[in-house]
Amino acid sequence: MNLEQLKQQFETVFDQQALGSYFCPGRVNLIGEHIDYNGGLVMPCAINFGTWMLIAPNQDNVFRFRSINFEEFYEIGVQTSYTKTGREWYNYPLGVLHHFVADGKKVEGLDVLYYGNVPIGSGLSSSASIEIATAFAFNQFFKSDYSKLELVKMAKSVENNFIGLSSGIMDQFAVAFGEANKALMLNCDTLDYQAVDAYLGDNILAVINTNKPRKLAESKYNERVQECKQALANLQEKLKINHLCDIDGATFEQYRYLINNDVILRRARHVIEENDRVKLAAEALAQHNLAEFGRLMYASHESLQNDYEVSGVELDTIVEYSKTDENVVGARMTGAGFGGCAIAIVKADAFDSFRHNLVAYYTDKVGYAPSVYATSICDGVHELSN
Ligand code: GLA
Repeated sequence: MNLEQLKQQFETVFDQQALGSYFCPGRVNLIGEHIDYNGGLVMPCAINFGTWMLIAPNQDNVFRFRSINFEEFYEIGVQTSYTKTGREWYNYPLGVLHHFVADGKKVEGLDVLYYGNVPIGSGLSSSASIEIATAFAFNQFFKSDYSKLELVKMAKSVENNFIGLSSGIMDQFAVAFGEANKALMLNCDTLDYQAVDAYLGDNILAVINTNKPRKLAESKYNERVQECKQALANLQEKLKINHLCDIDGATFEQYRYLINNDVILRRARHVIEENDRVKLAAEALAQHNLAEFGRLMYASHESLQNDYEVSGVELDTIVEYSKTDENVVGARMTGAGFGGCAIAIVKADAFDSFRHNLVAYYTDKVGYAPSVYATSICDGVHELSN
């Protein structure tokens, strides 16, 4: 659906013309998984799948949230606070609205229409995309004077406090600050970041959706967050650290004896070694050493599979296939895991055969087909010119 069609839809639904239109991308993470809530380094980038949002004020003093993707819609008056209602998609914009009014910002009734082409629940941050689209558009429309970083923090708070997922800041940061053809080297402790050249040579970034329904994802995610807290508490008996990522792999080897539970030990080892891998990956990328970058991607996946245990047969099958295909530089699961998506760096002119062979291999093993996309790395949230 293009912008013209979306504007027509807006008119059909709301009987008036859209006054502003916005786009916010989704994201993939190249490397640095389950690191953001442990104060370390991540390397996400925004991709050309995302959420479109069209708005116009109304005279009725109500917020009307509609989506082309879902039948369910929501309408609520201007109030001084809002609470989560059910599990529907509109809780994301509602959570953003809640933060605006709770901060005392002046808002007025709006008609809002969304359209997204990020596969929902696929781990490509469809939720961060709708949160940041909404926060960005409201900020501009209501002249609320938040900085972009404040909007990112607000969207994270929506996720943590309104929706109830203990996620880190990576997704919201990536979809807000992303830049075309760049990866963001983000320090999740200090929030300092650098947009680095995402050198891919003659390759492209493929995204493979397992199409596995992600049922237990939320509870398992929160469980990992707790396990990391436990590991940190054990290490703090001897070490003065605030986050697991404050130490490197060598220091961890010296102090791992403080953790006497094998599961907790493996969770900590993944986090600390993955953080080290991000540093190596950044060097490899800067040197255009894609072979090394690919090796680190595979190592990251293995650690997520065995130590962090957030992969699964679907994601493993994608990586297993990728290792047999000479046109693949590297592959790994991306995002939280438990289904969702993998990424692969694939020779551009061999993408069609990669897709064809992977679909056959995966379908044979898993019993249904994955979706395979060629993506490009694009800019973060922005207004679309009318
Ligand atoms: C999800 C969360 C992020 C991050 C990743 C794993 O996408 O929203 O904050 O923790 O999982 O790296």
